[in-house]
Amino acid sequence: VLIAIDGPAGAGKSTVARALAQRLGLAYLDSGAMYRCVGLLALERPTSAPSALAQAVRIELTADGAPSDRQAVLLDGRDVSQEIRSPAVSEAASRVAGDPAVREALIAKQRALLSSGDWVAEGRDIATVVAPDADLKIHLSADAAERARRRAAELGADPATVRAEQALRDERDSGFGRSPLQAAQGAVELDTSGLSVEQVVERIAQLVPVGRRPP
Ligand code: DC
Repeated sequence: VLIAIDGPAGAGKSTVARALAQRLGLAYLDSGAMYRCVGLLALERPTSAPSALAQAVRIELTADGAPSDRQAVLLDGRDVSQEIRSPAVSEAASRVAGDPAVREALIAKQRALLSSGDWVAEGRDIATVVAPDADLKIHLSADAAERARRRAAELGADPATVRAEQALRDERDSGFGRSPLQAAQGAVELDTSGLSVEQVVERIAQLVPVGRRPP
């Protein structure tokens, strides 16, 4: 089974996708972590073309540990799980994600991963571009204030500042089949404002086609 979850920053994608994968016993693909890896590399090697870095890089997303753990992200064998969450890398990731050749390279890696096994895959273009034939497509949203509040809590930053940056980021993270604020065709729209992670996970689990439900 393949469940695709897209949506803007702060809609709860990562938390929900991780919890859903755990609940259903599926692997979890954090596609944003892959863009973050290329963003980090681009910062470290400013003279290299980001597309060449994206093609050459080996990205491993290790199996989940305890429910509260993030998946470990290995970039050419180096654990960059923490480093890729910094504001500088977020910025660089958003920049390299606007390069069509970077996207092509990472989409190929994502499709290779998803070609075998059972997955919850999360990102911006999973339902539209990476896996349009996913068994279940979900678009998570939340109102702008709530998204900013969640993101600020995650980063330990000021909500008002985060909200101002968020609007710019949504704009910048559009295009190439990415629709941060709009559901893809055939995707179920789920507004997570005011819902707990458990409630969102429960709703999505109910939407998995019966014949495709893991045992
Ligand atoms: O979801 P995130 O914040 O970890 O994503 C990091 C960046 O990568 C963000 O700017 C959006 C971009 N991204 C993308 O363009 N396509 C994806 N499938 C996932 C993330």
